[in-house]
Amino acid sequence: SHRIMLGPLVAAIDQGTSSTRFLVFNSKTAELLSHHQVEIKQSFPKEGWVEEDPKEILQSVYECMERTCEKLTQLNIDISNIKAIGVTNQRETTLVWDKETGEPLYNAIVWLDLRTQSTVENLINKTPGRNKNHLKHKTGLPISTYFSAVKLRWLMDNVKEVHEAVVSHRAMFGTVDSWLIWCLTGGKSGGVHCTDVTNASRTMLFNIHTMDWDAELCKYFGIPMEILPRVRSSSEIYGLMVSTHKSLLFTHNFTCLGDQSAALVGQMCFQDGQAKNTYGTGCFLLRNTGAKPVMSEHGLLTTVAYKLGRDKPACYALEGSVAIAGAVVRWLQDNLGIIGSSEELEKLAASVGTSYGCYFVPAFSGLYAPYWEPSARGIICGLTQFTNKRHLAFAALEAVCFQTREILDAMNQDSGIPLTQLQVDGGMTSNKLLMQLQADILCIPVVKPSMPETTALGAAMAAGAAEGVSVWSLNPDDLSEVTSEKFEPQINPEESEFRYARWKRAVQKSMNWET
Ligand code: G3P
Repeated sequence: SHRIMLGPLVAAIDQGTSSTRFLVFNSKTAELLSHHQVEIKQSFPKEGWVEEDPKEILQSVYECMERTCEKLTQLNIDISNIKAIGVTNQRETTLVWDKETGEPLYNAIVWLDLRTQSTVENLINKTPGRNKNHLKHKTGLPISTYFSAVKLRWLMDNVKEVHEAVVSHRAMFGTVDSWLIWCLTGGKSGGVHCTDVTNASRTMLFNIHTMDWDAELCKYFGIPMEILPRVRSSSEIYGLMVSTHKSLLFTHNFTCLGDQSAALVGQMCFQDGQAKNTYGTGCFLLRNTGAKPVMSEHGLLTTVAYKLGRDKPACYALEGSVAIAGAVVRWLQDNLGIIGSSEELEKLAASVGTSYGCYFVPAFSGLYAPYWEPSARGIICGLTQFTNKRHLAFAALEAVCFQTREILDAMNQDSGIPLTQLQVDGGMTSNKLLMQLQADILCIPVVKPSMPETTALGAAMAAGAAEGVSVWSLNPDDLSEVTSEKFEPQINPEESEFRYARWKRAVQKSMNWET
């Protein structure tokens, strides 16, 4: 049959907290040709616990790849033109598997999980001056339930199979990127056990200055270094796909980077000072700080932004992490049942256009940046007889915007150069009311690219630019301008400040809930 000639294609596996996607781009035009998405089940076996099934995650990747390839074939696009695959993933989520059987030894413990709260509190109590930033000089991170090291410690202490596999040298640890790449490159028959610097920098076992696993940190958490994956740059070939799936027998090369780093690349934030905010399950604002790691004075993380090639320098970022953004929509839908879909949330909220003095702090997993308070819990306050579900819907959207405002304020204080507009992306940015509210609450314009799959684009760019693939240039002069939509602030700053001050009072009430 007639085949369309497109030149080299590059794909991305985007494995997020709530869903998996496979997307194929034309490397010459950055145009998205086809994609497929599958939702991921989350289980909440106990209060505060969040798990996912590693095999379901892997299956979802295969399913997305197969469906996308079918769609491409229907479009007469030759899938053998796919030259590389970039993996991008939910970060910190922790897995351990047996390298001889290839079997996961427990569910994946999701980044949002709170089971390590008491471990974290004990660790902090033991530091001089009860300092949660005790390891920050090496890791850029506060001691928190968020990062992998404490989750891995929990698995070794509480899951017999994990303990036994570690003792008998059969255990492999990894975040989702490592698990997927190991499986896709052959698994127990020779899979590649690796991760990249961006994912490694979220484990609390990685020294962001030496750019390697740190023996002292591993000792601190009691983690044997032999179970750790090899750390590589975010843009180089790790291995080739080995697949039993007939339709997927094309050659391709893998590379990976964490989803927030990928979004930074996809938004072309390559210059010191450029920033983006991605609204996924959580919400993550990253600002590129160039070749030097800047330590925050205002509760932000210092993280590796990317290292695009083995011999390229690492770039760092300041990051403000918000645990609950899109997750609040799923909660309103699944737990309260007041909406059937995220589109409904926008309609419901838009029908009143105000929260009528109601504030909703969704601190379901404690509070992340800038507070790092694991004992915070969600609250809804300011209710009256008049309040109804529409106001609550509005308050939920506003909560996402207020949390971003807190991060932006911290970011501006740390860098001394305020951002004059905010580049945004991610699933929730299709909500126009949310985007307008965000501009109103930040008092600066919010700019959204017309191609919303920024995270996948960034992963595809990193893969396409890898040495030996070289079908995508990351030289800023070669990158085409992206078309975008802009939301200007429409309310007066006094009103914005008034609402923000109220929000901050609500946040204070949500903290130290258990003490
Ligand atoms: O740190 C967690 C983050 O990587 C998850 O991103 O898009 O699944 O909310 P997302």
